[in-house]
Amino acid sequence: SPPAIIAPSILSADFAALGKACSDTIEQGASWLHIDIMDGHFVPNMTFGAPVVTKIRPHVKRPSSAHGTGTFDCHMMIAEPKKWVKDFQKAGCDLYCFHYEAAISSTAAETPADHSESKTSPKDMIRYVHEQSMLAGIAIKPDTPVDVLWDILDNQTQEEVPDMVLVMTVHPGFGGQKFMASELPKVAALRQRYPTLNIEVDGGLSEATIDQAADAGANVIVAGSAVFGAKDPADVIAKLRDAVEK
Ligand code: DX5
Ligand code: ZN
Repeated sequence: SPPAIIAPSILSADFAALGKACSDTIEQGASWLHIDIMDGHFVPNMTFGAPVVTKIRPHVKRPSSAHGTGTFDCHMMIAEPKKWVKDFQKAGCDLYCFHYEAAISSTAAETPADHSESKTSPKDMIRYVHEQSMLAGIAIKPDTPVDVLWDILDNQTQEEVPDMVLVMTVHPGFGGQKFMASELPKVAALRQRYPTLNIEVDGGLSEATIDQAADAGANVIVAGSAVFGAKDPADVIAKLRDAVEK
């Protein structure tokens, strides 16, 4: 399977010293930064938007290749994912991961000022993100069956195929929730069908839950409270990585 990628979620970092928190976590061995964007509509919580991403970008060296160290993995928990693609590209996002559930229920507006009425689709979204020179990820919530992804992943049109699938292992909205092992069969089904796909898990990952997730086939590991709440974050990052690589 693809390489182990450890992506600390800065949702649990000190927001008053975010630039340093970001550069520190990369120095401590993180591969990517997982950046949680919440709009108070798609999820019952709010974080921040593109201006904050712009401000933290200079604190972390741009990745030298696709999926490389320093990748900004933006997890878009927002109701209108198409609207913010260009803003996040300009802000320094490398991987734009939108929610399947938002894509199928939102309109195709490309900018905040564009009130276009047509519906968008996951395939359109992936193509559009690729056109803006970012990697594209697609996320599913616990209530969404994995089967909705087969058609998207089996598509022969390369520009419409996602670079990563995110299987949520908590209901999105908050850090520090309990890991839902009930979601791991989705990861296993994805890994069985797609041996080289980047499969990300997010929510409740720690030294206590990593083995189950790694055994199911996840290779991109998000951890917020487990990393930023640790006395020795470098040690936690190393242990998560070892568990995926073993
Ligand atoms: C939850 C977010 C997660 C969150 C994970 O909606 O998507 O990225 O930060 O936090 P932990 O690792 O503490 O569960
Ligand atoms: Zn997340």
